Amino acid sequence: MKRTKLPATLFGMLISGWLCAQPPVSDTNMDAFIDNLMSRMTLEEKIGQMNYVDVSAPETSTTVATEIRNGLAGGVKGSAAAAALKLQALAVHESRLGIPLLFGNDVIHGFRTIFPIPLGLACTWNPKAIEQSAHIAATEATADGMNLTFSPMVDICRDPRWGRGAEGAGEDPYLGAQIAQAMVRGYQGDDLSRSNALLSCVKHFAMYGAVEAGREYNTVDMSPYRMYNYYLPPYRGAVEAGVGCVMPSFNDINGVPSTANHWLLTEVLREQWGFKGFTVSDSGAIPELSDWGLGDLPTDAELALKAGMDMDLAGDVYIKQLPKLAADGKIPESMIAQACRRILEAKYRLGLFSNPDHGCSEERVRQEVLTPESRKFARALAEQSFVLLKNDQQILPLKKSGTVALIGPLADDQRDLLGCWAYGGDWRKVIGVAAGISNVVGSAVNVLYARGANLIDDPALLATFKAFGKTLPVDSRSPQEMLAEAVAAANKADVVVAVLGEPSDLCGEATSRAHIGLPDSQEELLQALVKTGKPVVLVLMNGRPLTLTWEAEHCGSILETWFGGTEAGNAIADVLFGDYNPSGKLTATFPRDVGQIPIYYNDVNTGRPYKGNPRNKNASRYLDVPNSPLYPFGYGLSYTTFAYGKVALSETNLVGDETLVASIDVTNTGQRAGEETVQLYLSQPVASVTRSVEDLKGFQKVLLQPGETQRVTFHITPEDLKFYNAELKYDWEPGKFIIRLGGNSSQLQSATVRWNK
Ligand code: BGC
Repeated sequence: MKRTKLPATLFGMLISGWLCAQPPVSDTNMDAFIDNLMSRMTLEEKIGQMNYVDVSAPETSTTVATEIRNGLAGGVKGSAAAAALKLQALAVHESRLGIPLLFGNDVIHGFRTIFPIPLGLACTWNPKAIEQSAHIAATEATADGMNLTFSPMVDICRDPRWGRGAEGAGEDPYLGAQIAQAMVRGYQGDDLSRSNALLSCVKHFAMYGAVEAGREYNTVDMSPYRMYNYYLPPYRGAVEAGVGCVMPSFNDINGVPSTANHWLLTEVLREQWGFKGFTVSDSGAIPELSDWGLGDLPTDAELALKAGMDMDLAGDVYIKQLPKLAADGKIPESMIAQACRRILEAKYRLGLFSNPDHGCSEERVRQEVLTPESRKFARALAEQSFVLLKNDQQILPLKKSGTVALIGPLADDQRDLLGCWAYGGDWRKVIGVAAGISNVVGSAVNVLYARGANLIDDPALLATFKAFGKTLPVDSRSPQEMLAEAVAAANKADVVVAVLGEPSDLCGEATSRAHIGLPDSQEELLQALVKTGKPVVLVLMNGRPLTLTWEAEHCGSILETWFGGTEAGNAIADVLFGDYNPSGKLTATFPRDVGQIPIYYNDVNTGRPYKGNPRNKNASRYLDVPNSPLYPFGYGLSYTTFAYGKVALSETNLVGDETLVASIDVTNTGQRAGEETVQLYLSQPVASVTRSVEDLKGFQKVLLQPGETQRVTFHITPEDLKFYNAELKYDWEPGKFIIRLGGNSSQLQSATVRWNK
């Protein structure tokens, strides 16, 4: 695109020295610039900055155009360069003060090059690579006109019934915070005014992943102890990494919706954590305060603003209610000015006043979007995100010869592989599993494909999908006909690869499920395939931990591939045929049964722990299902095996600020090179409050050749021992600590130290 011409007012400022091509982001310059600008803004224009418009096709809406011309829109949610440029030009050339717009959307796991869904990304345990994926997303999105993304989503989730767990990093606060920081760094870089930097908006603040019973938009009731230790760290991590924007959550917290929660948005976020950016409501969340029972629309606007909500996304409430509230003296104008200033500051830091298009151009799109390099990176990242859940009989990796029956509604699918929240991805560019296999093995393997079943048959669910305008490809043949074709293919093959799972529309927002197994149609198909007696490899695609007890018992191998993105099919084929040795580890616990939920590794011992003696009746356990999960946090197999030595400690009695060095020897005892994620957990058995049985405190990935041993070392300091106590004081308590090292949260080597103050 050609450089947008500056409006006269800004041009005047440019020659008088207010602006340069890329304004240096010094606070003094910025303050002076914004003081000057705000001194010329009317109250309505200040409120206009607090209005983030979200309508479909904003570029063709006359209402949106009028709002922009009248200085009554601060941001527009949109998704294409053409729209961004058209609307930005309106704002800059045709509004009185020429203030540029924020233009952003949900760039969640890639923009055009789609990476695995965030839950899959987390299973790489590779923050550096995740940072790089966010950087690629930022490059692509900014090339195409965006300057803001509503990402990362960092809600801790212990309940797989909630569909939005797919958008986050899983259940652990330590890992969650590392990933949150990596993503913020990847999007924003170190200078927001660079043309490939995207302002990051962390969400959903806070505790959204703890909605009661996993039901979407439900209530959250939680002790401060649990919040501070387990749910808040990832949001705080993002703030510490310099995230520019925070989006509060839809839920309430102990009786107060986040949207109107002064304690959350002002005391915690700004006073305790020192956040300096702006807040934007979730879509339409301000008027929803009425549904929460807090009052009428003027009350909603007043409560939200007074709580610390700077911008109204898609609510249309600030723009309509704030002028009168201010005129009636219900809210001080200074509060409006403060919110407006924070938004202008973000625009200034993005360099939008001097470079409103933020360096987007068709040329950049041609050069920088969906490049062979980013596709290659997406393939490697997808490979790392897959988790091998079972491979008892070593069916995997498959030989690059013989006949494979490739069965299942996801086996030749492209659409679902993008996963949820991938609006910028083009499914026609996605490599499906069938295509991936053909790319990797060519004609060396005879592949017999059969769909076998539809993704879902349940008419009620199908009707719901339709009602939401979703398109679920449905094969019109009868289930029996499809099943017979699949079984015939299986009977002719050496091995069956069944690619099954959830439709991608069952993950993401508003996709809570009470039953989290494979849909019935696919379960029946799998049972028929197992019955053939052929070895069955189950390749799963899904956005949440599933209940898989039957599958775990009857399938020879299970590979969890989440929704792997643009290169999913190639990556899956690489793993199936052994060109890549799987290394992913779960970041969310897989339950045996829905009745165990919420289920998570860092739970408490209780006063009556169950120690495996079934005669002990009054113990904390279920009578009809074990306490243990099907697959624990941190779990994941490889085509090779790893043996752990004993934990070696630099000392066993420590005082004060000393550093403990803990190491362990890890040996590759198999025949192939492989990567292992060595995990460090700490336990404090005696403390002033009930502590969890163990907490993740570190991890390292090592690549080991067959027979190779590496010593993996962690440095532990009192910082790692700290937690929030009953008074929410963040400190450590002296005593005994158990250092646990190993390959997953339930198979660990341990050693004990005393640490005094
Ligand atoms: C979602 C957010 C999203 C927003 C804007 C809401 O429905 O909860 O995660 O960022 O829409 O698209």
